[in-house]
Amino acid sequence: MATPSTPTLPSQVKPGLEGVVATQTKLSMVDGQNGVLIIAGYPIEKFAGKISIEEAAMLLWSASLPSEEEAPGLQRELAGYRALRPETIDIIKTARNAPPIDALRMACATLSLDVSNPNDISPAGDLALAKRLLSRFPTVIAAHSRLRSGLEPIAPRSDLSLAANFLYMTFGVEPDPLAAKALETYWVTVCDHGMNASTFAARVIASTRSDMVSAVTGAVGALKGPLHGGAPGPVLDMLVDIKTADNTEAWLRAEIAAGRRIMGFGHRVYKVRDPRAEVLAKTAQEMAGAHLQNAKLYDLARNVEKIAVRVLEELKPGRNLKTNVEFYTALVLQSIGLQPDQFVSMFACGRVAGWCGHVMEQHAQDRLIRPQSEYTGPRNLKLSR
Ligand code: ACO
Repeated sequence: MATPSTPTLPSQVKPGLEGVVATQTKLSMVDGQNGVLIIAGYPIEKFAGKISIEEAAMLLWSASLPSEEEAPGLQRELAGYRALRPETIDIIKTARNAPPIDALRMACATLSLDVSNPNDISPAGDLALAKRLLSRFPTVIAAHSRLRSGLEPIAPRSDLSLAANFLYMTFGVEPDPLAAKALETYWVTVCDHGMNASTFAARVIASTRSDMVSAVTGAVGALKGPLHGGAPGPVLDMLVDIKTADNTEAWLRAEIAAGRRIMGFGHRVYKVRDPRAEVLAKTAQEMAGAHLQNAKLYDLARNVEKIAVRVLEELKPGRNLKTNVEFYTALVLQSIGLQPDQFVSMFACGRVAGWCGHVMEQHAQDRLIRPQSEYTGPRNLKLSR
């Protein structure tokens, strides 16, 4: 029976906003029924592995891909932004024992210190900040990685690609070209993906006419949760725990029986295999072919994937829980020598290209995002004072 505290109107609430189309975008299209991802006109499988993250970013920020002749100049220009100010380094030092993604969130907020008007949300103001964010995210993570190991950060080099320079600054040796290529392919693969939670967070912030760096700082916070970008670390833990193909089925059944989710499977939009999993499975295979120590893990992962899809279909029928991007992300990032707690920050280094593009688009659309809520609390309470 209805009481004064229960709502009387029929509920229109969509708690996860499923199926709600909140905006239009030219940046990416996700077709979850057919497993298609288009980045500003290019199908992901024809794109990742063929262009640099700097080129992908410029495509997202200016709607056209730089020509092959323009690409080296773009790389040189963006390389000029890689170095961090002392204030940013100080924050990373203070956060040296925090997870890398938290250090990135704290450092991110300082990355506008060298622009005269960080609140300039004109196209030129946004572009100036986007270039800094893309170029500096890997520097922040490399510096954090050195500092937490008791080492001094290494200065960036401008003769290397963004990915190769990150590996150089992290490991302090000439980067393995195959590893740099794998990281770059990963960054391009995740550079944008429709109205995912972190992109939506960035757009909500930008919709108030707030600035690029504030919006991207919020997006970093949204990305880190295990239901979004925080899954690949646990994917690796799962593979390590499963150990051999023989254990897989029993392990997966026990997890689901315990009410836990299998990391790297399921997606709000994709009801078939995530097309990014296909791209990254190939990259993981290339790394496994070149480095024997990665081959065992790769073979185990292929087996786990097959069994997990079957077991999930049996125990969660009709939910269409297929492999998502995070499953092979774990393998690619592990194969280039990164630690599981760094994985989500690597995701941020690629996705920042898309976040910046969405902030620019939102600023151009200039429409405050402000949905409503249905009140379910009491009404007409009497104050006893
Ligand atoms: N393992 C086991 N069961 C699952 C999984 C999973 N990975 N994913 C969903 N389910 C089940 C749920 O328990 C639920 O079961 P029920 O109907 O018996 O209650 C059903 O499938 C539907 O789940 P929802 O939570 O409604 O699905 P939603 O669309 O909200 O979830 C999500 C999407 C969060 C990605 C989910 O599939 C998940 O938690 N996956 C594991 C984490 C992961 O891999 N995250 C990375 C996603 S990719 C990205 O963000 C870049």
